[in-house]
Amino acid sequence: MVNLTIDNKKIQAEEGQTLLDVARQNGIVIPTLCHHESLEPSGACRLCSVEIGEGSRTKVVTSCLYPVAEGLVVNTASERVMNVRRTVIQLLLARAPESEQLAKMAENMGISPEPRFKASEDGNKCVLCRLCVRTCEKIVGVSAIGFSSRGPQKNVCTPFHEPSNVCIGCGACSYVCPTGEIEMLTSPAGDVRTIWGRDFKMAVCKVCGRYFAPEDQLQYISGRTGVPVEELMVCSSCR
Ligand code: SF4
Ligand code: FES
Repeated sequence: MVNLTIDNKKIQAEEGQTLLDVARQNGIVIPTLCHHESLEPSGACRLCSVEIGEGSRTKVVTSCLYPVAEGLVVNTASERVMNVRRTVIQLLLARAPESEQLAKMAENMGISPEPRFKASEDGNKCVLCRLCVRTCEKIVGVSAIGFSSRGPQKNVCTPFHEPSNVCIGCGACSYVCPTGEIEMLTSPAGDVRTIWGRDFKMAVCKVCGRYFAPEDQLQYISGRTGVPVEELMVCSSCR
């Protein structure tokens, strides 16, 4: 076990844990944007910054990547930390000023949602956190989306901006996106889902009769697990 202090609280942690994990386990709130428990940390957003050390020898580190160490003193809400987070969120807001989710996050952190830096005018809400791309690749396992272009034009898309043949319409990218960039629409009857420029026919639950998942997604799960599609035709509420 490792002994450390977070916000004046003596804490025991396991070797190899990150500061973010340990803080959360102990009820200490650290905001994150690019972090997801099911994915390796990527350190893309810096929102989870904390200050480590004591006296004049302190430094700011990203808590989602930084491992615990014996005797470490951590401050998750010092003035320096709050300044870093304020700058990070204002830079993100300048890139995606139309993201309501981001504005809400800023508000929750007591930061004015008015962009401090020159705001982008392209209507893009993507802050390049990569959560969607990594979720599609590492959790779903299909790699239907990636990044294209460079600099301010860099964005998430399907290859050549064409509807993707490997996309299964699961919507995981849309659910995980913290800024609302990825649009997923459902037809009024619920029988068709549209995402990344493709329409996906929805399957009907054989118990309750509701549309619940794209047929392509069920086919994909069946292929990966060997469970016949017929057995997958039951929604999560009826299982
Ligand atoms: S679309 Fe959303 S999840 Fe994907 S990189 Fe942009 S902000 Fe992150
Ligand atoms: S949550 Fe740690 S860098 Fe984004």
